[in-house]
Parts: sequence; structure tokens; C-alpha cells
Amino acid sequence: VKHLPEPFRIRVVEPIALKTLEERQHAIKASGLNPFALKSEDVFIDLLTDSGTGAITNTMQAAGMLGDEAYAGSKSYYKLSKAVKDIFDFEHTIPTHQGRGAEQIIIPTLIEKRRRERGLSNPVSISNWHFDTTQGHTQINGAKAVNVVVEECMDTAAYHPFKGNFDIAKLEAAIQTYGPENVYTIISTITNNSAGGQPVSMANLKAVYEVAQRYDIPVIMDSARFCENAYFIQQREPGYQDKTIAEIIKEMYQYADMLAMSAKKDALVRIGGLLCVKDDNYLDVFTECRSRCVAMEGFPTYGGMSGQAIEELAQGLYEGQNKDYLAYRTSQVAYLTEQLEAAGVPCQTAGGHAVFVDAGRMLPHIPGEQFPAHALACKLYELGGIRAVEIGSLLLGRDNEGNQIPAPMELLRLTIPRMSYTQSHCDYIVDVFKDLLDVKDEIKGLRLTYEPPVLRHFTATFEEV
Ligand code: F0G
Repeated sequence: VKHLPEPFRIRVVEPIALKTLEERQHAIKASGLNPFALKSEDVFIDLLTDSGTGAITNTMQAAGMLGDEAYAGSKSYYKLSKAVKDIFDFEHTIPTHQGRGAEQIIIPTLIEKRRRERGLSNPVSISNWHFDTTQGHTQINGAKAVNVVVEECMDTAAYHPFKGNFDIAKLEAAIQTYGPENVYTIISTITNNSAGGQPVSMANLKAVYEVAQRYDIPVIMDSARFCENAYFIQQREPGYQDKTIAEIIKEMYQYADMLAMSAKKDALVRIGGLLCVKDDNYLDVFTECRSRCVAMEGFPTYGGMSGQAIEELAQGLYEGQNKDYLAYRTSQVAYLTEQLEAAGVPCQTAGGHAVFVDAGRMLPHIPGEQFPAHALACKLYELGGIRAVEIGSLLLGRDNEGNQIPAPMELLRLTIPRMSYTQSHCDYIVDVFKDLLDVKDEIKGLRLTYEPPVLRHFTATFEEV
């Protein structure tokens, strides 16, 4: 893969430094073997997340200066609504402090609506793959989160252009099994983060929407990485080569009734989110969400964001669609994936925002219940000061009955912040992995010493088995 030159130049820098091996060994031990508990200053290359960690552009920063900080009716809010209408063709906009702010409002709203109108008794949400906070809010509301991703996604060694797709037969079967009255939403997650930043095809989004309409189930587009998904459709799906990213995005959003967005990813902002409703078909949902927003996020023209942040978002929603930037970004991820594979590190097919190392294949001596990808994350930090994150059994957690949810894959996500690290950083990461390969058979499995009931991976602690 050709690593494209950065389509930007760097005018502000943030110094980073590599601590000594001894300091790193001390830090990871003190964290309870959980990289989430490391201090940022102890990390050299931080690949924990691409959420709010990227560079922002000079034009976004300039837009921020126009922020109208009025508590109610801010000019910035109307600018944001206009951008949402223009880009997604959605009528109703509520800003939220980030993606999970939208989730905490929309999920109980849809459950209550279905209880009133369809006699829901056992709430179920179906997705190609619920992101962990989405699953968390689902469970907090007493509902079950069911994932129906295509089987091809589990074979990390095999190529498939749209490993993030829903398995439509499984979707229909799940609706039948749980009863259409209980399925209060279908969530299309683009790109499919937990499957490896894998895209969902236009044909698949359309097929999902047709099924949903047949059963009168509202579809939420979980929109964190909407630009990367559109870019992959343009590159990989027949018939879309000559369409612009903007055209593809508009078409994607025909296949949803509402959108929830963590704007900290493809919309390039440091903080912010969106909860939008397509049209008056779900006006009741919008009205209910708006009043919940006041209590949980803030008055619905700011929803937890400053006027400055709203202006940056209204601009970032457009800048994230730039095709040169998207080509560069996806080629950086593809480059790192290919270099790691060439060194002998098994990876999921290159996706949008991260390289996903298949720790299940790399450390076959550690069973899933001993969290091989998390053990790998600890060693990666020790050897190179690189912080990555487990996407496997640990993240998946337990169901409402307390049983470990079986993880189909044990992945270690090397998440690439936007426009922040260069090719030399990628080459350094590859070198550290080469050192890791020499000692991989000595890496031990882990057991939990503290485990909170939901979203356990953020604060759990561990010891070696
Ligand atoms: N949906 C998806 C697909 C996400 O990836 C995230 C966040 C959220 C919702 C929640 O949004 O963080 O703004 O509240 N993902 C980050 C990650 C945290 O590291 O993948 P949020």
C-alpha cells in the first residue's frame, strides 16, 4: 500500500516523550494492568481511541470564534441545524455533549413509545454491532442488545469488502424470535466499529431499512464514522465510483429514521454529538427527546455543547467529507495493517479508523476468558509506550443474567487519531510489534481482581494468571 503524503501541514505541535522501560513497567503495574488507568504523560503513542483526539483544522478553529453562547436560541444552533438538513436531509436537530448523550435520550424514548403503542414487554435492540456505550445504555434500560453481523467478519484473514454488514436472514430471524412488538429499534452502526471499523454497504443499509419498515421498527443510524463509511462505498461498491462523498452520505441517510452521532470521530471535533430525526413521521420522538434533553444534556439548542463547539461541529461535518483527507486517512490505516501483517502480526482486513490485531490468532495459548487482547495491550505498552485497547471478551462483558457474552473475536485495536501521527510513528509501531513477536509466548493470561457491573473495561483491574 502506498502511504499517501499528508494533505495538510503541521503548524501546532504537542511534544511527546518515551518513558524508560523501568518507568513503563512501574506505570502499567500501578494501573492494575489496565491501560485506561495510565496517565497520558506516561504514554508515547496513544492509540486508545480516535474519539476527540485528532487535530482540528484552522478553518474549524476560526469558525469557533463565531460561537453564540446564548443559553436559548443561539445562532450557532441554527447554523448546525442547517448543516444537518443540507448533509443528511434530516429536519430536527438536538445537539448533545457526545454520542452517549444522544443514546441516553433516544433509547428510553423509543422503549416507552413501543410499550405504549405495541405492548412491548421484553425490550430488544438489534444492530450489526452495538458499540459498548450503546450496549451499556440498552442494558441500563433493561433491554437486550442483539448483534447480527455477517459471518464473514469473524474470519479476520479473509477479505470481504463489507465485513460490517448486517446478516439480513439473522436480522429477520431475531425479529421473529423476540417478537416484532419487542424490537423497539434497529441500529445501523457505520462503520461497524467493533467488527474492525468495517464498512456497511449501501445495498445492506437499504435491505435493513426495508425489513424495519415491514415491521414498523424505527432505524437509528449510529453515525460516528459516516464519512469513512461513505468513502468505502465509493471505493468498493459497484455503481458509486462516480458519486461524490456528499451524494453517497445523502443516500445512506434515506435508510434511517433518526441518527445518533458521536461527533468526536468523523466530524473532527473534540467534543460534541447529535440526535436528529428525519421528518415529522417521528415528530413525537423528537418532542419527547427534546424534553429529556433539557434534564439530561442541557437546553435543546445547546445540549451540553458550547456555542464555540457547535460552530466547530457545523464546519467539521463538512470538512470530514474531504476526499483527499479520507484517501490519506484510510491509506494510513491500510499501510500500518500491511506492514504489521508483513512482520507476522495477524490483523483484521484494514478498516476505517484503526488497525485491529487478531490477538486470538497471535496468542493462541491464552483462552478468551483470560483476555488475550488485553494481555497484549499491557505488553505493547511495556515494550514501546504504545497504548491500545481491547475489543473482545473484556469489552463485550456480561448479559443481564451475569453470564460472559461469548466474544467471536479477540481483537486489539490500534486506533489512529485523525491527522495526528505520521508514517514514522507507524514504522515505530511496527518495530515494537517485531520485539513483541519475540516474547509473545511468554505473555500470560489475566484474571479480574475488580469488575464493575456495566462498561467494566474502563475501570476493571487484573492480575496475571
Ligand atoms: N457509537 C459508536 C459507533 C462509537 O464508536 C462511539 C464511541 C459511540 C457511539 C459513543 O460516542 O464516545 O461520543 O459518547 N466510540 C469511541 C471509541 C469512544 O473509542 O470507539 P461517545
